[in-house]
Amino acid sequence: MTEAKKLFIKTYGCQMNVYDSERMAEAMGADGYTLTDVVEDADMVLLNTCHIREKASEKLFSDLGRLRPLKDAKPDLKIGVAGCVAQAEGAEIQRRMPLVDIVVGPQAYHRLPALARAKGPQVDTEFPAEDKFDHLPERKALRGPTAFLTVQEGCDKFCAFCVVPYTRGAEVSRPVDRILRETRDLVSRGVREVTLLGQNVNGYHGLGEGGSWTLGRLIRALGAVEGLERIRYMTSHPNDMDDDLIAAHGDVPQLMPYLHLPVQSGSDRILKAMNRKHTRDDYFRVIDRIRAVRPDILFSSDFIVGFPGESDADFADTLDLVRRVGFGQSYSFKYSARPGTPAAEKAPVPSEVADSRLQQLQALILEQQRAGQEAMVGREVTVLYEKPGRQPGQMVGKSDHLHAVHVNDATGKVGELAQVRVLASSANSLSAVRIS
Ligand code: SAH
Ligand code: SF4
Ligand code: F3S
Repeated sequence: MTEAKKLFIKTYGCQMNVYDSERMAEAMGADGYTLTDVVEDADMVLLNTCHIREKASEKLFSDLGRLRPLKDAKPDLKIGVAGCVAQAEGAEIQRRMPLVDIVVGPQAYHRLPALARAKGPQVDTEFPAEDKFDHLPERKALRGPTAFLTVQEGCDKFCAFCVVPYTRGAEVSRPVDRILRETRDLVSRGVREVTLLGQNVNGYHGLGEGGSWTLGRLIRALGAVEGLERIRYMTSHPNDMDDDLIAAHGDVPQLMPYLHLPVQSGSDRILKAMNRKHTRDDYFRVIDRIRAVRPDILFSSDFIVGFPGESDADFADTLDLVRRVGFGQSYSFKYSARPGTPAAEKAPVPSEVADSRLQQLQALILEQQRAGQEAMVGREVTVLYEKPGRQPGQMVGKSDHLHAVHVNDATGKVGELAQVRVLASSANSLSAVRIS
């Protein structure tokens, strides 16, 4: 028997890329590749890229530069570029970096094994009519207690700053039966928590019994899957939080009390320029309606500062929105002009101004995050153990509210749901002791 070939994957960007990398690893596994963490051992290197901001996208080219000596020493090494930069730049990547053998866009991953077998440079950035998930092998690998599961892909919203509608294409939802099957399969292999993924996951409209299902309905069906203890979903758009989904937050016990609901800005003028199609008041109303059915829910958001035309007053509105909502956590980014998006045509805010706003916003977000964590001290929470901690006798996992928790528990096992008492809060996690 010939020795198994080795595949090294580096994943940039969002959770969907993490999920896709896993699926590509399994597709290549069926072709005799096993995963390696050591790039020097690899017969194939796959970079699964992100195009969302300029920095993310440029990282690919510096990483490719670093691969050159390896490729020189090992001419048979295959180098593949997948993900959103592959989709956006296609064959241009090979023109700039001739060491790249394969460029494969997110909708063509089921064709990766064939691309890897072919001789000479390969590019596949088609949006084929068939569903890639129907042609990818099932997820067989042994795994931890949490898993991502893509239920929807693509976006039709066209926010003025964003490349996703171009790199991931139009919104497509996977059919209900495939999602239920994949979930049951994951649960049978030890998964206790799934995070449903989609660029616009709450716009889910997959085909199920009786027609098209909403995300709320899908979540209710998942709530009936025996052995599935926790359900999360991301990322949502405020305009797609419908009544049924909001109600599910009140009455599906497996649906966890944490929601990532990006707002991007607190200024109505900027929201309009961003083509978000909602106002700050719309956002407050959605938050209030969800809190009405699930008062303990924690929210997180994404913010962009320094969007073209953002004034001091607009930025003050963003700070005010953050104070009014009170987030458990949030991500904030300095606006990055992306070629091909409408906002890239507009005059930018001076870089120093955007930097200073980013600092102010991040300080406020951090203050809220710390205060939220401090408020957990003394409380009893449930933690799903994901792995042993660095210290002996310690387990690490997440609370219902998605806090990272280190638990003193000498007999704890991965995959267990433990009742713990929070003893202290540190920078990015809580420490706790098991009580039952
Ligand atoms: N599907 C997600 C967005 C994915 S991108 C959603 O709709 O929320 C993740 C985050 O990156 C966005 O929420 C936004 O805050 C940020 N982002 C997107 N484009 C950006 C740009 N051009 N510059 C800076 N940040 C950007
Ligand atoms: Fe991008 Fe807006 Fe779509 Fe989110 S909703 S993926 S920010 S275009
Ligand atoms: Fe990046 Fe594409 Fe995800 S641009 S954030 S990898 S959808």
